[in-house]
Amino acid sequence: MEFNELIQDRFSCRALSDREIPREALNRILEAARVAPTAVNKQPFKIWAVESPEARAKLAETTNYTFGAGVFLVVGGKYEDAWVRQYDGRNFADVDASIVATYIMLAIHNEGLRSTWVGHFDAPKMKEFFPQMADYDLIAIFPVGYATEKGVPSPRHAQRKNVAELVEIL
Ligand SMILES: Cc1cc2nc3c(=O)[nH]c(=O)nc-3n(C[C@H](O)[C@H](O)[C@H](O)COP(=O)(O)O)c2cc1C
Repeated sequence: MEFNELIQDRFSCRALSDREIPREALNRILEAARVAPTAVNKQPFKIWAVESPEARAKLAETTNYTFGAGVFLVVGGKYEDAWVRQYDGRNFADVDASIVATYIMLAIHNEGLRSTWVGHFDAPKMKEFFPQMADYDLIAIFPVGYATEKGVPSPRHAQRKNVAELVEIL
């Protein structure tokens, strides 16, 4: 999909089917994450593809926002591995992970799949279920699937500020 079309077309889809997703599509989504830019190219992030019924059941205990998806991508940033700005000690792990998550979000849509960036989940509980996530700041879950007929943009989707409110030319 052409980029401008993609960003205008994307919306948070909260009604998904668990119909099988082609492995090639998932691989292209993960490839988008791989080439995302990170500060000093530190790549201080990890993605967990939650696919098995057992793992999905555990994930579902950490959030109500699963939307019927069959696959979940969890994104985390690792502070120990990230670039730190010397002037103020600012660590960029969460920024890097968010860029990766944004690439994932757009790549999902580009595949004709749908998702929602889910930040509302019990991260400590997730780490209890999946100890491999313990050292990461978990910033997003993406439930991934095909939209059902109820999977349409929410009213909030259209409520955007205008450019004049958001941009100040100095
Ligand atoms: C960091 C972040 C966290 C979010 N967490 C949730 C969430 O937990 N549950 C949910 O339904 N939507 C969540 N969303 C989706 C936003 O509500 C949505 O992007 C926003 O309302 C704009 O709508 P749109 O994505 O359809 O354009 C989140 C989005 C972002 C960027």
